[in-house]
Amino acid sequence: QTGYVTLDRGYKNTGATKSAITFLDGEQGILQYRGYSIEELAAKASFLEVAYLLIYGELPTQEQYATFETAIRRHTLVNEDMRKIFDGFPVSAHPMSVLSSLVSAMSAFYPDAQDEKGSEDRHIIRLIAKLPTIATWSYKRSLGHPTNYPKNNLDYISNFLNMMFALPVEEYKVDPVVAEALNVLLILHADHEQNCSTSTVRLVGSSQANLYSSISAGISALWGPLHGGANQEVIEMLEAIKADGGDVSKYVDMAKNAKTTGFRLFGFGHRVYKNFDPRAKIIKKAADDVLSKLGVNDPVLEIAKGLEEAALNDDYFVQRKLYPNVDFYSGIIYRALGIPTNMFTVMFAIGRLPGWIAQWKEMRETKEPIGRPRQIYTGATLREFVPIEKR
Ligand code: SDX
Repeated sequence: QTGYVTLDRGYKNTGATKSAITFLDGEQGILQYRGYSIEELAAKASFLEVAYLLIYGELPTQEQYATFETAIRRHTLVNEDMRKIFDGFPVSAHPMSVLSSLVSAMSAFYPDAQDEKGSEDRHIIRLIAKLPTIATWSYKRSLGHPTNYPKNNLDYISNFLNMMFALPVEEYKVDPVVAEALNVLLILHADHEQNCSTSTVRLVGSSQANLYSSISAGISALWGPLHGGANQEVIEMLEAIKADGGDVSKYVDMAKNAKTTGFRLFGFGHRVYKNFDPRAKIIKKAADDVLSKLGVNDPVLEIAKGLEEAALNDDYFVQRKLYPNVDFYSGIIYRALGIPTNMFTVMFAIGRLPGWIAQWKEMRETKEPIGRPRQIYTGATLREFVPIEKR
């Protein structure tokens, strides 16, 4: 080895880049997008306004917003040949496998993304516009229902809800409570500095791979149960606790003996937040509000609160500063909105897309070098080849 290498597994103490997009303070539990607090944005902005802010650095004027939002409405249709790829998937395919594959396929339908300088904004619009359309295909087919086409007279979130839940046999009306809850959830997931999937997008993009391929890689990284896949794991864990009589202390104990039980509380802990995840606070409050407005009584909400209470009063969690993270309560709201468990991480991807795009764009604009970390070699020293007959 020439020179020396400092080993930092999982990059726990390594800054990979400089960025002006998102600020996190893990000790205080602070999250800001381009200097605006997540609390203000979740309460006052629309998801597309936040997408514009993350990608272009400023909140859009009315004119900029109209141009951006109109362009997105006009690009929600997906090339019909993409359906042939989709039709090749087994009905049981997890929606995240479909999403990462079809987003990667977009680089074949829009090859100018690889080499045409200045075509970036077109591909940014295409991705934001088409992801919801593609995302709904898996859900509709899992029900044996026909997929829906987007409608240009609907706003971004209403369009998604319509494609998810409309049926040819009856009129579908978007419930404003559902639309507003989704707007908040998508904003809360929009960016989170150099998390696993964002770092993946930046690393893939640093080789000059096109935007679609980079985002597809981000979707794959997000799927992992330790990352975005945790929101699905949380609901499955809460359901298991409910089925097992609702005794949360038993599960807290199992998590404390993770070394032997191999069990961990999904939705708890965070690499950066050593305090409450500010997003979890907002989502927990919204859960009570949305479920009561929708008249939904979901027993797992009380189980989740009980689990939080038990964990936050237990030394194991307190010492390790393990608090509920963004994934702990989000699934309870998604479920109340009628979104199935295997689509929860897809919802995370739709929310995180503008953040991935913003970070990829920043990496390109700041001319980041190709990412190529080193290692500490621990394998065999030099040895002679032995022909197979002598082994
Ligand atoms: C997201 O990075 C981001 O910003 C991600 C994200 C985003 O917006 O992009 O915020 C989204 O991914 C949220 C996290 C969702 N994942 C989960 O909820 C899965 C459960 N959480 C853990 O797997 C874990 O907390 C991580 C992956 C989130 C963080 O892992 P770290 O930072 O590598 O911490 P660690 O695994 O080294 O844990 C430190 C200690 C360990 O105990 P000791 O070895 O010190 O005795 O805490 C324990 C862990 O065993 N621990 C847990 C635990 N999380 C950590 N014990 C029980 N239950 C847990 N959930």
